[in-house]
Amino acid sequence: MFKIAVLVSGSGSNLQSIINNIKNGNLNCKLEIVIGDRPCYGIDRAKENGIEGVLVDRKIYKNNLCEEINNILATKEIDLVVLAGFLSIIDEKFVEKWKNKIINIHPSLLPKFGGKGMYGLKVHEAVVANKEKESGCTVHYVDSGVDSGQIILQAKVQVFSSDTAEVLQKRVLVEEHKLLPRAIGEIIKKK
Ligand code: GRF
Repeated sequence: MFKIAVLVSGSGSNLQSIINNIKNGNLNCKLEIVIGDRPCYGIDRAKENGIEGVLVDRKIYKNNLCEEINNILATKEIDLVVLAGFLSIIDEKFVEKWKNKIINIHPSLLPKFGGKGMYGLKVHEAVVANKEKESGCTVHYVDSGVDSGQIILQAKVQVFSSDTAEVLQKRVLVEEHKLLPRAIGEIIKKK
């Protein structure tokens, strides 16, 4: 059975969509562990769904955060690491260790509105400020840059002139919840 680990920092709605897709049979894999880098609802969601949820606090582990996460993952046979709203920067050693086995979801049409400092609402604020006609989300492999790895799948949404960043964020999130399970499914199929 294909095994995945999900890394979170926030509410974990993308994590929930993975859990739902496993439960309803759309995704043929086991969610082995959820790791959070700060206390967050994502860890609670894991536990509520009978999945191991672990806090590796960035404030405690600091520069050793990735090493500690890797130590935990090394005790499992993980095929894919999924960053689903994980806010800490993944270090080069970790990227090298999980090369082609680590993916991220980003709430814009990369390469647009990606890179350092582009996360959460800031992405959508920038899209609205730039008067973009469309936005969306991207699932990509993680490399040593920020949001720069090979793109796996993208989904588009329309941006309306009346949109606030919050409204746009919600519209994009609906697509994220479909795109991330699809991307994981495609990777599983290829294996
Ligand atoms: C999503 O917008 C994702 O694209 C970004 O962080 C957000 C996480 O949301 N990387 P959630 O924690 O899955 O609800």
